Amino acid sequence: MATIRRMRADDISDVEYVCRMTAGEKSINDEAVGRLMSSMFSTYYARECYDSCYVLADDSDKPVGYLLCEPDYRRFSKIFRKVDVPEIYKLDKKAGLRCWFFPVPYSLMGWKYPAHLHIDLLPEYQSGGYGTKMMQMLLEDLRAKNVKGLMLIAGAWNTGAIRFYKRNGFKMVFNKLGEAVMAIDLTK
Ligand SMILES: CC(C)(COP(=O)(O)OP(=O)(O)OC[C@H]1O[C@@H](n2cnc3c(N)ncnc32)[C@H](O)[C@@H]1OP(=O)(O)O)[C@@H](O)C(=O)NCCC(=O)NCCS
Repeated sequence: MATIRRMRADDISDVEYVCRMTAGEKSINDEAVGRLMSSMFSTYYARECYDSCYVLADDSDKPVGYLLCEPDYRRFSKIFRKVDVPEIYKLDKKAGLRCWFFPVPYSLMGWKYPAHLHIDLLPEYQSGGYGTKMMQMLLEDLRAKNVKGLMLIAGAWNTGAIRFYKRNGFKMVFNKLGEAVMAIDLTK
């Protein structure tokens, strides 16, 4: 049986592994691509955001899924650009340049939705209700901390994930150019 708990500092490499294994075929099969994907989408949160991240841990307490959340878009913009973008640039120049723009949508919508998230579970743990449980824990936690809103960006092709987010209270804000931006107002 798997259990949900807060993320810890020593979870970082398992969180990066889950990111790599859920980021598509190229990421699974090519270690360099996998390393790049985890640097782009998981390392920052696993290093900076213990207070607002959860992991799904297996019987041996090893993370097999995560819900990563940064409640403060300003902090993300500052630290991600200063610490992570240069590291990503070293791995892949084009990806580094692309990543510099990652904070832009979060900053544009930050006045209403200051928090953002990433959620992924290893395939064998999907569709067991764990994602919903983690999401409900996070929403309760953010409301208790008076965070006004939470947003995310998903691939528009990922209809399963979009259905999952809608069921958990998110509304579609923008769905163009292959990107779906969804958000939830936590003041209501
Ligand atoms: C999306 C995800 C976090 C949902 O967590 P979960 O524990 O599987 O979801 P729950 O069991 O609580 O709810 C089931 C719903 O999740 C979604 N879901 C399940 N497997 C999925 C998958 N492989 N890809 C996308 N969505 C999936 C579906 O909406 C499903 O509802 P359905 O049975 O009516 O189709 C999880 O399935 C996952 O990690 N998927 C792969 C990675 C991914 O797409 N992450 C989101 C990136 S934006």
